[in-house]
Amino acid sequence: MSTPETRKQDVEHPGQDGRLQGDHARSARPQDRTPILMARQLEKTVGSGSNAITILHALDLEIHAGESVAIVGSSGSGKSTLLALLAGLDTLTRGELALFGEPLSSLDEDGRARLRAGQVGFVFQNFQLLPTLTALENVLLPLELSDHNVDTDQARQWLVRVGLEARVQHLPKQLSGGEQQRVAIARAFVARPALVFADEPTGNLDRATGDRVADLLFTLNRESGTTLVLVTHDPRLAARCDRTLTLDDGRLHARASDHARGPDTAPPSHEPEGVDH
Ligand SMILES: Nc1ncnc2c1ncn2[C@@H]1O[C@H](COP(=O)(O)OP(=O)(O)OP(=O)(O)O)[C@@H](O)[C@H]1O
Ligand SMILES: [Mg+2]
Repeated sequence: MSTPETRKQDVEHPGQDGRLQGDHARSARPQDRTPILMARQLEKTVGSGSNAITILHALDLEIHAGESVAIVGSSGSGKSTLLALLAGLDTLTRGELALFGEPLSSLDEDGRARLRAGQVGFVFQNFQLLPTLTALENVLLPLELSDHNVDTDQARQWLVRVGLEARVQHLPKQLSGGEQQRVAIARAFVARPALVFADEPTGNLDRATGDRVADLLFTLNRESGTTLVLVTHDPRLAARCDRTLTLDDGRLHARASDHARGPDTAPPSHEPEGVDH
């Protein structure tokens, strides 16, 4: 399989395996381990008959624990659709997808929700905060839905970390777009998930606030080994990730800049390791 991905980190920071410290980073080198996420020939078609539209075409990709991966591409290229599929929030039309080594095809919706609970955080492009709950109550939700202690102080602390200490008791409609986005980020991280998907997590933020949120994401990636999969239109945010995947009309491409290393130093390719059914 030709992998449409290149490990930019290997080029820029060879041998810096020390970044993989913490709860979820149990092994030093990403390529030595089973991927935390593996997609094979993933396809998404909506509609039927002559109205059918294929949004994603035969995508292969692997993401290893502790990585940070940017997904970029023009509006309508399929980034949000891909993120929802990878997180098990939407169903594939064709292909195979395994999360934490578990094939999603073997799980019903409840099973997928159980797999995600406490392990996967998701920041939606449109935030999807519950309108009748305060900021704090929204952040508490993942703790209530998983085996974690419902720790109000922990949830409040997350709101402090994203700069919303003065907005804890506000309802979403009383918050600006950027404030809602930061509540959504606090909610995605509160249960200390191993894997966080974030759809344009800084898209509604001014540069200074966006930089602060990005610093927080990459600190968690570095110190806790939280795997990050970020959709972004911001080249600065993408550049901070280990590697970048580019979607073009539903197809994955490596970016020209990702081919900087010569053939002699090409990263180890990840052959399909098989998905058990
Ligand atoms: N349920 C659906 N029915 C029909 N078309 C859909 C459906 N969902 C998504 N699409 C189409 O699929 C394409 C990809 O949508 P998607 O939201 O994934 O794009 P995106 O890359 O996230 O764009 P943006 O950067 O604007 O957020 C778009 O052309 C969209 O109109
Ligand atoms: Mg989108």
